Amino acid sequence: MYCYILCVHDYISFLLPLSCPGLCVGQNVLPPGPLTGAIGGRVKFTTTLSPPAKPFISVSWTFNRVNIITSTTVNITNADHKDRISLDRTTGSLELWNLGLRDQGEYRVITSPSPATLIAGISSTNLTCEAAGNISCIQWIKDGLPLCPSNNIIFSADNRTVYLSPVQDIDNGEYECLVSNPVSNRTASHNLTVNFGPQNISVYGPIAAPTGYRVTLSCSADSIPPATFTWMFNRTETGVNNTLYVIERMEALHIGNYTCTATNNITGLKDSVVHKLRG
Ligand SMILES: *[C@@H]1O[C@H](CO)[C@@H](O)[C@H](O)[C@H]1NC(C)=O
Ligand SMILES: *[C@@H]1O[C@H](CO)[C@@H](O)[C@H](O)[C@H]1NC(C)=O
Ligand SMILES: *[C@@H]1O[C@H](CO)[C@@H](O)[C@H](O)[C@H]1NC(C)=O
Ligand SMILES: *[C@@H]1O[C@H](CO)[C@@H](O)[C@H](O)[C@H]1NC(C)=O
Ligand SMILES: *[C@@H]1O[C@H](CO)[C@@H](O)[C@H](O)[C@H]1NC(C)=O
Ligand SMILES: *[C@@H]1O[C@H](CO)[C@@H](O)[C@H](O)[C@H]1NC(C)=O
Ligand SMILES: *[C@@H]1O[C@H](CO)[C@@H](O)[C@H](O)[C@H]1NC(C)=O
Ligand SMILES: *[C@@H]1O[C@H](CO)[C@@H](O)[C@H](O)[C@H]1NC(C)=O
Ligand SMILES: *[C@@H]1O[C@H](CO)[C@@H](O)[C@H](O)[C@H]1NC(C)=O
Ligand SMILES: *[C@@H]1O[C@H](CO)[C@@H](O)[C@H](O)[C@H]1NC(C)=O
Ligand SMILES: *[C@@H]1O[C@H](CO)[C@@H](O)[C@H](O)[C@H]1NC(C)=O
Repeated sequence: MYCYILCVHDYISFLLPLSCPGLCVGQNVLPPGPLTGAIGGRVKFTTTLSPPAKPFISVSWTFNRVNIITSTTVNITNADHKDRISLDRTTGSLELWNLGLRDQGEYRVITSPSPATLIAGISSTNLTCEAAGNISCIQWIKDGLPLCPSNNIIFSADNRTVYLSPVQDIDNGEYECLVSNPVSNRTASHNLTVNFGPQNISVYGPIAAPTGYRVTLSCSADSIPPATFTWMFNRTETGVNNTLYVIERMEALHIGNYTCTATNNITGLKDSVVHKLRG
């Protein structure tokens, strides 16, 4: 997701620049950060997405979280923007003209497929805090606690950018940047998703069960996105692809090895664990 803050300057504020109240945080928030335009003028929200081999399935722009245009096989356009926007479907860039003060605010674009699918241990990303106005301090907070530098987390000298290289499973979470000057402060937040796993796979259930009893084996693994599961009994696929494997009535023929395999279809990784069930 990319986002921009637009400040529209009228003639007076152009001479005496307003402090634009915008603040935005995100991955790959692209130049020029806060944009300015003049009343009656035009602006272009560019992305630096290289045109993908196939066009985006969907491109959607919002203004203060309200749809401007959602372009899939059809275009859904807000009436107020209908005659004064043009969208470049190949890069996702949006141009807007006949600017008025009411156009000030936050613009976001979401493309599908997402340009950044992060994989733990492989991908890197930068979180950038875009802020306008007189800033004296930027602080980063992750899941409510101050974010500290570590071997994969580096801050730029002015704290505007956090480099995560490579991203790790524990980097998942909500990042906030707190921008302050002596008179005010603001925060912006961004949820970072790092795909990882499956890892820490395990099966919970009895190791032995008497004849006639119902037995439930439950498999779990840490994984983003959630793993899909398959079960084998004595090296034969059972066709069960659920976290649970249920034996309604325990019999001698159910004794043996139950292998649970977890698969993450984004990371492409698999992990297995064997559970032995006795009579
Ligand atoms: C949707 O808008 C885009 C960009 O303006 C245009 O290229 C495309 O032809 C439009 N699609 C339809 C179905 O109107
Ligand atoms: C992060 O920023 C650095 C320095 O500007 C740049 O070299 C690097 O390519 C960026 N990484 C990503 C994933 O955007
Ligand atoms: C920004 O704030 C500092 C105090 O934190 C002040 O000294 C400086 O004059 C301000 N700059 C502008 C352009 O307002
Ligand atoms: C950068 O962040 C650190 C830790 O949050 C803080 O102590 C420091 O004052 C910040 N520096 C700037 C220039 O904002
Ligand atoms: C941010 O500003 C609010 C008042 O608007 C103040 O109560 C709060 O203490 C400030 N927080 C920081 C971290 O400066
Ligand atoms: C991040 O996720 C939390 C809950 O998972 C949600 O409450 C919050 O609104 C999200 N923040 C953003 C910026 O999407
Ligand atoms: C996997 O388990 C270990 C301890 O056994 C724990 O330290 C680690 O955080 C777990 N991984 C995840 C992704 O929860
Ligand atoms: C079940 O697992 C045990 C080791 O845990 C192994 O010796 C045995 O050959 C396995 N049986 C089958 C049918 O896979
Ligand atoms: C298990 O998943 C496969 C695809 O991965 C699917 O074809 C099959 O129907 C599923 N089986 C059950 C019992 O849900
Ligand atoms: C499964 O394997 C166990 C040995 O690990 C064996 O005792 C049992 O007879 C096997 N069950 C079936 C149904 O093949
Ligand atoms: C991954 O698996 C889930 C659940 O089985 C499925 O809904 C999703 O489409 C899959 N994604 C990809 C990229 O294959």
